[in-house]
Amino acid sequence: MSDPMEAYRIDAEPYYRPVGDEIELFEAAYAARMPMMLKGPTGCGKSRFVEHMAWRLRRPLVTVACNEDMTAADLVGRFLLDAEGTRWQDGPLTLAARHGAICYLDEVVEARQDTTVVIHPLTDSRRVLPLEKKGELLRAHPDFVLVISYNPGYQTLLKDLKQSTKQRFGALDFGYPEHAVEVEIVVHETGVTTAVADKLVAIAERARNLKGHGLEEGISTRMLVHAGKLIAQGVEPRAACRVALVRPITDDADMRDALDAAVATYF
Ligand SMILES: Nc1ncnc2c1ncn2[C@@H]1O[C@H](COP(=O)(O)OP(=O)(O)OP(=O)(O)O)[C@@H](O)[C@H]1O
Ligand SMILES: [Mg+2]
Repeated sequence: MSDPMEAYRIDAEPYYRPVGDEIELFEAAYAARMPMMLKGPTGCGKSRFVEHMAWRLRRPLVTVACNEDMTAADLVGRFLLDAEGTRWQDGPLTLAARHGAICYLDEVVEARQDTTVVIHPLTDSRRVLPLEKKGELLRAHPDFVLVISYNPGYQTLLKDLKQSTKQRFGALDFGYPEHAVEVEIVVHETGVTTAVADKLVAIAERARNLKGHGLEEGISTRMLVHAGKLIAQGVEPRAACRVALVRPITDDADMRDALDAAVATYF
């Protein structure tokens, strides 16, 4: 029989530059099969970290991008109609729990609370998933673990995780790395020189100080990687920064001018 997890295995090491003791902590949490929550702003390395950890722990990784239209059946599975009749198809959560993968629910607050509660019996000492429609009580594979990501600050009163969900997880905080580490990441991901990466990171640091003062969110490591890739393609640095760093994060003309001016002091 073919390996149902084939597509979810990670063979080559995903590059991840640790910023603290997150690798050791995640390994300990995994050894205890503790579900984990990765908190931090967009583009700061959460997804890359999970990919790296799945590779390191030699587990397949099943990722689900959550959204508000997602139903419990989208996670758990459903009966499908085909030529031979009806056939049960495991959803991503069930697949991961059955075969011992790491299941990564990205942007979990986007899911409705009635969807989120299906993870409850899987994330406490029961480690089971009731497949009600199928009449099966699935016992999670011993290697299964659930990881969720969460962007603190994007929540509203209506859109937040319940305490009964949050309290099932251990949490790791992610943020933008310190200067030298972020330079190293940008160099590795794009091939620009250290001198260029150093300037890009300095621009991002300036913009991050404007968060809450006209900018909703700072320039992320992901955006710096975009800018670096354009520069590595031969795009003139100021144009690369306009396209990859400034235009995406604000539509406000004054803020764009301020950021363009910051770019001009470096390039
Ligand atoms: N510590 C790191 N090591 C290696 N690459 C990193 C690191 N932090 C950020 N990156 C780079 O930043 C990019 C964006 O990171 P990633 O996709 O993991 O963000 P995220 O935190 O999952 O964001 P979102 O919340 O939007 O999903 C990665 O593709 C990678 O190039
Ligand atoms: Mg992500």
